[in-house]
Amino acid sequence: MRLRTLRKDAPLGGKRVLLRIDANVPVKKGRAVDGMFGRIAQVAVDIEWLLQKGARVILMTHFGRPDGKRVSAYSVRPVAKRLSQLLNCKVPICREIVGEKAERAAARLPDGGVLLLENLRFDPREEKNSPSFAQALGRLADMYVDDAFSVAHRSHASIDAIADILPSYAGPRFAHEVEVLSRLMRAPKKPFVLCMGGLKLKTKLPMLKRLLPSVEVVLIGGALAHTFFAAKGLPLGASAFDEEGVTLAKELIRTWGEKIQLPSDVVVASSLREDARIRLGTPESIRHAERIMDVGPETLKRYAESLSRARTIVWNGPFGYCEREAFSAGTQAMARAIADRIGEAFTVVGGGDTVPVIDGMGLFNKFSFVSMGGGAMLDFLSGDELPGVRVLMG
Ligand code: 3PG
Repeated sequence: MRLRTLRKDAPLGGKRVLLRIDANVPVKKGRAVDGMFGRIAQVAVDIEWLLQKGARVILMTHFGRPDGKRVSAYSVRPVAKRLSQLLNCKVPICREIVGEKAERAAARLPDGGVLLLENLRFDPREEKNSPSFAQALGRLADMYVDDAFSVAHRSHASIDAIADILPSYAGPRFAHEVEVLSRLMRAPKKPFVLCMGGLKLKTKLPMLKRLLPSVEVVLIGGALAHTFFAAKGLPLGASAFDEEGVTLAKELIRTWGEKIQLPSDVVVASSLREDARIRLGTPESIRHAERIMDVGPETLKRYAESLSRARTIVWNGPFGYCEREAFSAGTQAMARAIADRIGEAFTVVGGGDTVPVIDGMGLFNKFSFVSMGGGAMLDFLSGDELPGVRVLMG
């Protein structure tokens, strides 16, 4: 079984293409926060390609989690603005996602015209994978293209049920993600080093279990490390950790302890306040009310040493509380150490919080592949069949 992809020479002139994108990015002061290599910037390249071919493009995306209700803070307005900038043309929003008005707007599109539907998740049927919602979306177009790998792990109507309604294909970016991640799973060159940060262990566990037999070492950082400290009975003070994950961490230490590396020094703050006292210490030394905020220099040196030998590196999740500049040194040092392996190792990075860091450091092009999917990448690498991939196979 192969992924049905959109051929480069597919005749698309005059065709109404329903294109699923993932424009789910943070918003600041009404503007989409989307760097030079952000999600919207990346998919704009594929939209442009379809428009050049004379397709009539009906874009659909989710935006945040409005819970099936029309919430103005989650309108796709910032997405339309960003896309208009990138495509150099006004991208109008169709406030009705489906129904007569949307059908008329889609039918009126000229060749090379584009339209953005309002947030799919304003309709409660989207997240329920409702066939009636998929049918209503299907009435807008002649074919469906999915270019949103980062939501391929969601069984939602615009990803799953829609593929039963229209001839459906994977877009170029989607197909590329699947190809690269599949290659990584098939034959990773050794030594294979996994770098895992972030918070929730449960979401990372299936991927860890799947990859642990073939990795040389897992370098752990961020709040994920605190969960392992808790599993070892170390004091955490007021540090963030994943309570639910402690038992899972104990299990992993029991089975894979030799491969799991944890920070040996950490940056500690006396509180979350801007004027908090900051010190370096060992994980054993955390006092009541203190918080671990980042990994320390000794740890980074040791981690960089492992990375300097690796031939395959996968990185997901920040290594410290990098929303604050003072605690982003660990994440930035990891980014640099991995980027330094360019040409020597196959390096894959993913995750909603990690990608903006490397984009901000100007390192985006120094990785073999930057996955736009956080959860989707983890699920794919765990060997699970993602609903959004399954429906495009055949
Ligand atoms: C993401 O930002 O990871 C994707 O857009 C998925 O969003 P979701 O977790 O709200 O489904």
